[in-house]
Amino acid sequence: MNLIRLIYASVARDGLDYSELTAILRTATTHNESKGITGILTVGNGAFLQALEGDRASVNRLYNHIIADPRHTDCEILRYGRIVTRGFNEWSMKLVGLDDQPTAKRRALVMRHSGRAVFEPNHMTGAQAAAFLDDLARQERRAA
Ligand SMILES: Cc1cc2nc3c(=O)[nH]c(=O)nc-3n(C[C@H](O)[C@H](O)[C@H](O)COP(=O)(O)O)c2cc1C
Repeated sequence: MNLIRLIYASVARDGLDYSELTAILRTATTHNESKGITGILTVGNGAFLQALEGDRASVNRLYNHIIADPRHTDCEILRYGRIVTRGFNEWSMKLVGLDDQPTAKRRALVMRHSGRAVFEPNHMTGAQAAAFLDDLARQERRAA
């Protein structure tokens, strides 16, 4: 399998609410599971940062589908490349809300990886985004 990871950032549509997020997650979980895609989706401060990993053709197809979704705009690929092992293998899609409680630890992660006090993934480099998502996943696993 030609295993790849794609990380992109986008801007959430104004007024996107919690029920829409859970609807996205529901679709993503079912679809990704059937296509062997794993990943993590973070949302905060009106922005998304998502990692998709899996077979190259499946990830490319999904990304092209996702960027046409009117629930967000300004999709920008931050990083794309081959990986040896998956980083988010236990999640067909893990949703992490950065605006939720407890925020202190998550805020500290944002600060650590971007130098900014607020989550602005469109300003992150690919390396920063990848390290941020890795750390966030580690934090989520510890909390589970
Ligand atoms: C930020 C964001 C992330 C998404 N992530 C996924 C995902 O990981 N997998 C997925 O199947 N759909 C995801 N979607 C939803 C797709 O854009 C699309 O609505 C879904 O695949 C259903 O497509 P369909 O209505 O053409 O069947 C995401 C949407 C948004 C806005």
